[in-house]
Amino acid sequence: MKKPWGGRFEKSTDALMERFSASIAFDQALYAYDIAGSIAHCKMLAKCRILKPAEAKKIVTGLEKIRKEFDAGQFKIDESLEDIHMNIENRLTQLIGPVAGKLHTARSRNDQICLDIRMYLRDEVAEIMQAIQQLGKTLLTLAKKHIDHIIPGYTHLQRAQPVLLSHHLLAHLEMLLRDKGRMQDALKRINVMPLGSAALAGTNFPIDRHYTAKLLKFPEVSHNSIDSVSDRDFLIEFTSAAAILMMHLSRFAEEIILWSSSEFDLIELSDAFSTGSSIMPQKKNPDPAELIRGKSGRVYGSLVALLTLMKSLPLAYNRDLQEDKEPLFDAVHTVKLCLAVFDGMLATAKFKKIPLAKLEASGFLTATDIADYLVLQGIPFREAHAITGKTVSYCLKNNMTLEQMSLAELQKISSRFKKDVLDHISITSSVERKASYGGTAKKRVLEQIARLKKELARK
Ligand code: ARG
Repeated sequence: MKKPWGGRFEKSTDALMERFSASIAFDQALYAYDIAGSIAHCKMLAKCRILKPAEAKKIVTGLEKIRKEFDAGQFKIDESLEDIHMNIENRLTQLIGPVAGKLHTARSRNDQICLDIRMYLRDEVAEIMQAIQQLGKTLLTLAKKHIDHIIPGYTHLQRAQPVLLSHHLLAHLEMLLRDKGRMQDALKRINVMPLGSAALAGTNFPIDRHYTAKLLKFPEVSHNSIDSVSDRDFLIEFTSAAAILMMHLSRFAEEIILWSSSEFDLIELSDAFSTGSSIMPQKKNPDPAELIRGKSGRVYGSLVALLTLMKSLPLAYNRDLQEDKEPLFDAVHTVKLCLAVFDGMLATAKFKKIPLAKLEASGFLTATDIADYLVLQGIPFREAHAITGKTVSYCLKNNMTLEQMSLAELQKISSRFKKDVLDHISITSSVERKASYGGTAKKRVLEQIARLKKELARK
């Protein structure tokens, strides 16, 4: 096949080189954006009298036909035509003849590919933001449902203080809302219209780039043609937001995996979101969570691939840039899939309520409350800490829980213990006392549920 750029070439491309340089296997995913961009470009050329109305009409009709062929899965890809742009242009020539060649006036594939990926990514980011929203709503529903469910909170993966399960779940929602904010922020810099920068220098033709931007619903036009064709910051920004999001999902997934074990026994995943073992009949494994944890690595990989791709790249367009698409597509695909699976996994899971007696027996969760109690009696915190330490040590020696201690026993350790200390020892009162703003007391958590509900309702 004669290449559209083949004018100065005498020999045809080596078959290996042809395969090596082709991007059509993956950039065909951009067909709808490439066609929409071409239609807008064509209309702009007609408006600026660079194309005759009849020519523009022919081109637009042809492009619309090609879009239908793609939509119906009937478009015949020609590998030798390198990329999506040339496949579409070639088909347009078959359909409408040489007038098709006028479409590429005042543009280059260098600005065309930038336009395509910006249009693609702004749609995908909108979808990802919606998926985050959906997962957020599921978390909020769970938080409301389990508002009286107390779990041990952990630091250093050691039982620390009792907290509401809702409070813990909403911690993950806070992370997700920051992820959504980062996506929103990246969108500002994705949503810039590069077409008309041409190869790198701009064009001789009297084009109206702002009109193209208006047709394609871009709020901004890029300001420097050299930067326009070589900038991939917006991909890196997106992938870095995506990598952080995956890091969050991976942390949450790790907890789901721990919580599913008999050691934690806090959650049971639905059969619909678990798998079995081919050898051990008793097993039910939290595979979706494990896969999400594992897939975070792919998205970090995309981020590092893109950063490395751009490092030391001289201005302006370089063919290296073709390598941006596969990591980008993989990151988009992975993030969307993981958000959807996480949502399904959580929405169908059963959280198991821990009986109070088990919480009490589970490791001096209220020790800090005893220290706080002593502070209220006027003892400096450090001293209170030491007295409480002695109390814990007494319990350990006598194989009992804090809750099982009598007032007499406590008073043997310190005379500052009064009758009301027994109140501070209980798990439920410990939670209720964490009433500082953002704390785990029920009224504080309910306050955050109300705030988050509003936040999630915002468009
Ligand atoms: N396939 C190319 C890419 O993805 C499109 C631009 C090619 N431009 C060029 N001058 N070869 O970057």
